[in-house]
Amino acid sequence: MSWQATVVTLFPDMFPGPLGQSLAGRALENGVWSCRTEDLREHGLGRHRAVDDTPFGGGAGMVIRPDVADAALAATQAGANIPRVYLTPRGRPLAQADVRRYAAGPGVMLLCGRFEGVDERFLQARGVEQVSIGDYVLSGGETAALVLLDACVRLLPGVMGSEQSGVEESFSDGLLEYPHYTRPAVWDGHEVPEVLLSGNHAAIARWRQAQAEETTRERRPDLWSAWLARKNGNRTEAVGGATQADLGV
Ligand code: ADE
Repeated sequence: MSWQATVVTLFPDMFPGPLGQSLAGRALENGVWSCRTEDLREHGLGRHRAVDDTPFGGGAGMVIRPDVADAALAATQAGANIPRVYLTPRGRPLAQADVRRYAAGPGVMLLCGRFEGVDERFLQARGVEQVSIGDYVLSGGETAALVLLDACVRLLPGVMGSEQSGVEESFSDGLLEYPHYTRPAVWDGHEVPEVLLSGNHAAIARWRQAQAEETTRERRPDLWSAWLARKNGNRTEAVGGATQADLGV
């Protein structure tokens, strides 16, 4: 039984897109996961197969009709046990904890919006989670869906080599990763930090930990204060819907 991605979209040709390449692509070929699309347009109404209408209350843009969205959902035959996710900048931020939950189940049903959005009654009545991939606005939910699927597929059993699965675990303490260096030891006049050439594994581990802490403090004050709170013995704090241990960064 493979992990099943079902995507409701006006642009089915966008899938699997980049996920047909590399690790995800190989896993797709090997049947570790599958990617089905349901064309929203096929459920549109009238001669023009209209999927949207003007918003009640006025305002710019168009809204996807609940009856059309529901017909597309029914056609997917995605069971009620499969999480239903609508990608929208109005959603709660996607966190690694969500990705783990999705990857651990039988699959996901993703609804990609265009225009102003989808009628809220449909989302509520059909138990659709609303998820955002970040505080910026994309032209549609398709690229967000690809991001979510990429994050899930890499966690499926057998998709990544054991080496990379290990990496996921070793950075699950809520800090950003330390920087990396490789040969040549001097490049364009720039040297590699000396400690990394010392062969002193304890010193290297201390340096990397310090770098991880400094980078997190500078770049992600939100993660940093949560990490400090945890370190100081407070109860685990939630960050973006995930516990720090779930972040895997
Ligand atoms: N659709 C448009 N912008 C989006 C975002 N930031 N996240 C998820 N879906 C979106």
